[in-house]
Amino acid sequence: MPDNPILIPKDWYHLSFDSLYPVVYAHRTVEAAREDALFSIQETKLTRADRVLDLCCGNGRHMATLVEAADMVVGLDYSSAMLDLARGVLGPKGLLVRADMRAQPFEECFDVVVNYFTSFGYFETEEENLAAVRGLSKALRPGGRFFIDYFNRSYTEQNIEPSSVRFQDGYEIREERWIDLTAHRINKTTVVLREGVVVSDSGESVRLYSDAEFRALLSAGGLHVERIFGDYMGGECCVPTQPRMIVIGRKA
Ligand SMILES: C[S@@+](CC[C@H](N)C(=O)[O-])C[C@H]1O[C@@H](n2cnc3c(N)ncnc32)[C@H](O)[C@@H]1O
Repeated sequence: MPDNPILIPKDWYHLSFDSLYPVVYAHRTVEAAREDALFSIQETKLTRADRVLDLCCGNGRHMATLVEAADMVVGLDYSSAMLDLARGVLGPKGLLVRADMRAQPFEECFDVVVNYFTSFGYFETEEENLAAVRGLSKALRPGGRFFIDYFNRSYTEQNIEPSSVRFQDGYEIREERWIDLTAHRINKTTVVLREGVVVSDSGESVRLYSDAEFRALLSAGGLHVERIFGDYMGGECCVPTQPRMIVIGRKA
């Protein structure tokens, strides 16, 4: 834990995905997401007629590929800044909706729900994280498929980079990361400076789940796990050498 950590607010997820996202996460582009989106299309056996929800779609970087594969693709995100970026990426394609994933408005509307790049486990209590799973489940028709890309706990614990400084588009980005073993969370603070002046400080705090815990959480929300991969090349899951926990299954 850093000596003087920035206090991470409980609702950090409503504050941290703002207009500086394209600076802090400059590498999260449409091009970088294309192979990942293609993998999800393949593994969910997506067809053109399937109705797809990208839950926590962010800047729409996966949707840009999904709209080529299916006629009806909806992106949902809480951040209006991210949705503005998504509209810029997608042009007139795809539908975009602003909502909180725990109280999303769709009921049995989708054949496939995708959730990429650790867009889960943000909430402080397990009741709230379960509400997010139930939100995903509610959006799916019975028998509908889901694809969730989360981080792999053992890899994350062994490969955490406690601090880093990098430069992007004239900004300096200072990040500190630590694991809270009591709360089972990985925390990160990010300070962004421009010409030596702090222009933003923010935090993130995400629940670390083992595969067994994640399965149990999904099961409590009515989601049945069929396969888990450890990366986007179909590698073995849940070993310390594999970075991701990509969970694929169906609504019961
Ligand atoms: C790590 S980003 C990933 C975005 C996108 N899936 C990608 O791979 O680039 C997480 C996204 O979740 C969204 N988000 C955070 N909390 C949310 C909530 N409670 N409800 C809906 N979206 C939320 C953020 O605005 C952000 O766009």
